[in-house]
Amino acid sequence: MGKNKDMDLLKNGKRIDGRGKEDLRELEAKAGILKRADGSGYFRMGNTEAVAAVFGPRELHPKHKQKPQRGILQCRYNLAPFSVDDRKRPGPSRRGKEIGKVAEGALSSAVFLEEFPTATIDVYMEVISADAGTRCVALNAGSIALADAGIPMKGLISSCAAGKIEDTPVLDLKGEEDMNGQVDLPIAMNAETGEITLLQMDGMTDIEEMDEMMDLAIKGCKKVAEKQKEALMETF
Ligand code: CDP
Repeated sequence: MGKNKDMDLLKNGKRIDGRGKEDLRELEAKAGILKRADGSGYFRMGNTEAVAAVFGPRELHPKHKQKPQRGILQCRYNLAPFSVDDRKRPGPSRRGKEIGKVAEGALSSAVFLEEFPTATIDVYMEVISADAGTRCVALNAGSIALADAGIPMKGLISSCAAGKIEDTPVLDLKGEEDMNGQVDLPIAMNAETGEITLLQMDGMTDIEEMDEMMDLAIKGCKKVAEKQKEALMETF
């Protein structure tokens, strides 16, 4: 986040890729794309793409990690080395671990984990192309994969970011907007219950703008949810 004075991110109400302030990038969703996983999903927002695989529920090992009353979700988020312009160093990173943790929180609240005492459900989210919003796209693929695996859920988790560019709240930042903009506000929500399950923010804002960005992001999540549902319906 830092403003680049040479870059016009908003001109006559249009963004660098021709979108209006309230437009999402093009969305694409698929379910059941991987043979070897119990459930799988793919999600794309513009040039950001992720695949997700779900394994389980299965008995969690080592045993001391088990929860007697409920199952747990273990999420891994990985940015593939070929997903970014400068090849990313393969292997775990602090950023990846943090996103895995927040994804765990965001997805767990939608799963009836009490139905799986002592078990784990593993969610692997792989970003194959990154152009901002990778945590959102990974979560969207992960949620499709959980539903595709037949895991009982209180609704799908849908995610997108709002932000601020040129002092203006906008929906779904792409790479240049994320890099040169003022605020990035990724959220995830359960579109069935309205529960917000992830909220992070980079940048500075005030209450009024925050409200505006939240409204935009919530509208975006609802559109994402429609796309996720369409993909799941196609597999039936
Ligand atoms: O991707 P997301 O917006 O969830 O997270 P971020 O940490 O704000 O990263 C923003 C963008 O920076 C990513 O989507 C990538 O396009 C880029 N990035 C990168 O090129 N190399 C990294 N190691 C991390 C991020």
